[in-house]
Amino acid sequence: MTELPTTGTPHPLAAGLDSTRTLEFPPGFRFGSATAAFQIEGAAHEEGREDSIWDAFCRVPGAVFEGHDGSVAADHYHRMPQDVALMAELGLDTYRFSTSWARIKPGDRTLNPKGLDFYSRLVDELLGRGIAPWLTLYHWDLPQALQERGGWANRDTAYRFADYALEVFEHLKDRVTDWTTLNEPWCSSFLSYAGGEHAPGHTNPEEAVAAAHHLLLGHGLASGAMREVADKEHRLGITLNFTVADPANPANAVDVDAARRIDGAFNRIFLDPIFRGQYPTDVLEDMAEAGLERHIRGNDLEVIAAPIDVLGVNYYNGELVAGPTTPPAPDESLVFASDRGLPRRSPIVGSERVGRAWRDLPRTAMGWEVQPGGLERLLLRLEEHYTGPAGIPMVITENGAAYDDVADEAGFVDDSGDRLSFIDAHLRATHRAMEQGADVRGYLVWSLMDNFEWSFGYDKRFGIVRVDYDTQARIPKASAKWYAQVAASHRLPA
Ligand code: NOJ
Repeated sequence: MTELPTTGTPHPLAAGLDSTRTLEFPPGFRFGSATAAFQIEGAAHEEGREDSIWDAFCRVPGAVFEGHDGSVAADHYHRMPQDVALMAELGLDTYRFSTSWARIKPGDRTLNPKGLDFYSRLVDELLGRGIAPWLTLYHWDLPQALQERGGWANRDTAYRFADYALEVFEHLKDRVTDWTTLNEPWCSSFLSYAGGEHAPGHTNPEEAVAAAHHLLLGHGLASGAMREVADKEHRLGITLNFTVADPANPANAVDVDAARRIDGAFNRIFLDPIFRGQYPTDVLEDMAEAGLERHIRGNDLEVIAAPIDVLGVNYYNGELVAGPTTPPAPDESLVFASDRGLPRRSPIVGSERVGRAWRDLPRTAMGWEVQPGGLERLLLRLEEHYTGPAGIPMVITENGAAYDDVADEAGFVDDSGDRLSFIDAHLRATHRAMEQGADVRGYLVWSLMDNFEWSFGYDKRFGIVRVDYDTQARIPKASAKWYAQVAASHRLPA
């Protein structure tokens, strides 16, 4: 097995990835892939679909790399059967996709039968090929009509989401067992309403905390409503994106506090209301100025704590953080964003003076550090403090990496030195966590194929399958061929 790429002396956190052992995953452990509607479908205005906030954001000059948009994307809307066939060829047993609210209920008005029919056909196609559908109801593409009424900063959006979720559930619950309400609410709130980097591109911390609470409320209302009509076999959950924040200097109280704040602002602000029915006191304090507490009404917290059956874990990287006394590390994504002349600010509401520090870990093309050990630590922590006490399992609903792929004349990408190693290392980390008691039931690689990487457009490629955007050809990369063997054998080869 190839070693992880490194930029110098390996950091101790990158060590210990013993790739010489063959590891077995238990029977029933799911190996699949994930995508999201806006990132792959295209057909942005076909068969009744109307604008989502991402269609509108893509039109803002400078918002997205080179003005890329989702109008064609990977043309999955027209190529769905072939894409499902490709998954079957790779032997993947689970496919996590999202439904587009703007396609199913354009303008959040009435159900669009053609929009719904697309997902119904997708589900049939998957089941026909022995692939379990895993449906995410919200992966960031809010109908623009709702944004015009305030979007997630408006409490009413939570109720609109629950209505839409229940309608989709009622139509597809006979064939779909696994349901996720929201994907990464941190991104839909802080990155979108405070950081300015995601649609709708606002830089208002007060809107961001309102959005965070309303997303949680929407999750609680939707899962409560779905539960009432669900059968025993349905599994309902939410997917959160986690960071593992280490203090630059563990002996420096300021850096330790920075790590606490980042952990609060990314992880605990969502975990605690869902699993414990309360916001952490320190997060309420950190976000007091932005007014988080103001939005909590009546029995909101009880609604948000509606029981779930599975926690979806998205993990990409850890980070080293420091207080204001340590010079900040260059943050590639923010540099990139400001190059485009858009207003951007820190999405870390209430802790703006907390910065990233630098450690010598390998990085992906996103500039994100490669730190599989962070995933192991994260899974163990979640097991001990959240999912274990709640008696529910976890599934890794996303993990993967963008690299600067080089395709040969046939379009083949040999990514064995980077993406393949990344996935191998994270599967090893998952396995180690499982050996120590973490109840993890599956791994869904992000992503099945190259797609629209939000404000980075098509410039960043996360797929295990290459998409040639000129011809829309799909060409499995080395990582896809290797992953197919892992899925087939349930074993990570040495
Ligand atoms: C998580 C998001 O859910 C997905 O949409 C995105 O493409 C990946 N992270 C990579 O940034």
